[in-house]
Amino acid sequence: MQAHERRSDPRAAAKRAVGEQVAAMVEDGMCLGLGTGSTAACALEALGRRIRDEGLHVSGIPTSFFAEQLARTCGIPLVTFEDVDRVDLAFDGADEVDPHLNLIKGRGAAHTREKVVATQAARFVVLVDETKLVDRLGTRMPVPVEVLPMAARPVRRALERLGARAELRMGARKDGPVVTDQGFWVIDARFEAGLDDPAALDHALKRLPGVLDHGLFIGLATDVLVGEEDGGVRHLRARG
Ligand code: A5P
Repeated sequence: MQAHERRSDPRAAAKRAVGEQVAAMVEDGMCLGLGTGSTAACALEALGRRIRDEGLHVSGIPTSFFAEQLARTCGIPLVTFEDVDRVDLAFDGADEVDPHLNLIKGRGAAHTREKVVATQAARFVVLVDETKLVDRLGTRMPVPVEVLPMAARPVRRALERLGARAELRMGARKDGPVVTDQGFWVIDARFEAGLDDPAALDHALKRLPGVLDHGLFIGLATDVLVGEEDGGVRHLRARG
């Protein structure tokens, strides 16, 4: 997302507030997971300001080409899992958050790398505005499923058997399907009444041959920062 698109975003103040707050949680020497999307972008920019103004020393593992490019612009040093054994704190946006802090992610098709990074983090902080909070996952957003292109049709049929309306995601400023950072395609699985059992669907999707990963994040978020319209932030913590 370009800077001018973010300026006209009615949720910009909420996104900036959570971005500032997670950047303030970062301590010197931390290795960070760098999220993707318009909300994570606010956090990357706020972190860049701390590096510049306070001389903060951190490193980050990007979750996408988007995050990699923006992190470079913001002066955040990048590393890979070949360089580090731990991620202290990962931050990222989400498309839906339920009352158990389970998530749907992947509007930007970065969910596979985002999940790898989130699962390696001691703390996974999710950044959203109030419009992302839902009672039941899947009521507004489809579940994105990243597939090997040659498996797209069998996976679509399997998703339909699971009760979804399954659509191959098409490019907006590109002819043909969206191609992920890994060279895979994305099928959006829409469940009209939402998800009865997100954990069961998580397991069912993982078992489908040709599926790289999907956008359900079950039990991964440790914290959710909810940006409010007036610039306030509510902090939700996972139980247990
Ligand atoms: C990227 O694929 C997504 O998982 C994003 O993190 C998610 O869609 C949230 O993006 P926004 O912060 O732009 O809403």
